Amino acid sequence: MSEAPHGAPIKTPGQLIAAVIASFAVPIVIIVLLVIYVDNSTRTGAGTDSLSEAEVTARIKPLAQVDIRDANAPRVYKTGEEVYKAVCSACHASGAAGAPKFTNTADWAPRIAQGFDTLLHTALTGKGAMPPRGGTSPDDYSDFEIARAVTYMANNSGASFPEPAQPAAGAAAASGAVAAAAPAGASDAGAAQAAAAAVAALASVPQAAAPAAGAATSADASQAGKALYQQVCQACHAAGVLNAPKYGDKDAWASRLKDPMDTIYNYALHGKGAMPPKGGSTASDADVKAAVDYMVSAVK
Ligand code: HEC
Ligand code: HEC
Repeated sequence: MSEAPHGAPIKTPGQLIAAVIASFAVPIVIIVLLVIYVDNSTRTGAGTDSLSEAEVTARIKPLAQVDIRDANAPRVYKTGEEVYKAVCSACHASGAAGAPKFTNTADWAPRIAQGFDTLLHTALTGKGAMPPRGGTSPDDYSDFEIARAVTYMANNSGASFPEPAQPAAGAAAASGAVAAAAPAGASDAGAAQAAAAAVAALASVPQAAAPAAGAATSADASQAGKALYQQVCQACHAAGVLNAPKYGDKDAWASRLKDPMDTIYNYALHGKGAMPPKGGSTASDADVKAAVDYMVSAVK
């Protein structure tokens, strides 16, 4: 050991070993620290936030959720403009897919000539690239709201249809029935105009008042059906005006009764050819169905 130079820091084999180890370890520690520094972000182990409030709520939320609406709450109807902007404008603003363009009177004139009822029927049941109700569900937009949208669009494109009448409170719930009926049939403009005239003549007929919701028992229903038939439907159905199937005429009804009752109800509710929706009345859906039952029972 005496030959070792003075002042050399490593004097024993132990110190040498320590120096060798340190010369490896220190750079490694520095590198590790640098890596951590560069990659510095808050790290959480897998599952550490599994008890956070948001995570827990998401885990324990029920699989199916029921959206409860108060059936008795007065329904706030959207205006035609609101429905148009929310739904119909998607196609009708630009004329996408061949839709008649909003405010383009040339596009609309031949359609308006079909009459409001036909337009509404098409809007409810669809036609070509036009999806039924513009693709919405009856829960979101009632028939009345779609009717308002049709009025809004048509009136801004050359028509002057009156604003549709708001349905009675009791009828609103039932109005959701989707028209599963066949798309607008072979109704030409002439027939629609004839129907419009017949409906105008009906204006003198007293409109059946909607019965208080829920009050109708089945006996009441058949009474209401008969009453509505006498007040409204017989104007056409008693004599077969406009080729309406005549009351009690089994032959005239046979081919129609091949359809399921729901389809027949839908024709009566939403119109078909020269048959105006609800016979042009403002009766509740239940009463119109009762009137259909009354007419059908006469030919069974
Ligand atoms: C996905 C695109 C699309 C949407 C959304 C849409 N329409 Fe249409 N609409 C069309 C097309 C396409 C036509 C033309 C159909 C034809 O004549 O074959 C049309 C035609 C119509 C007609 C004329 C029907 C006739 O008998 O000539 C009315 C009325 C109508 N739409 C109302 C509405 C209403 C109301 C809404 C919103 C609730 C709506 N549309 C939403 C595509 C759409
Ligand atoms: C303005 C005349 C008119 C009035 C009012 C009228 N209808 Fe009709 N109805 C018709 C015509 C026309 C048809 C045949 C439609 C067709 O097949 O194109 C018809 C057909 C029907 C059909 C058969 C639909 C089918 O093909 O399955 C039923 C059901 C019906 N009407 C119920 C009623 C009820 C209920 C009332 C009263 C609330 C009523 N109608 C009032 C003209 C009228």
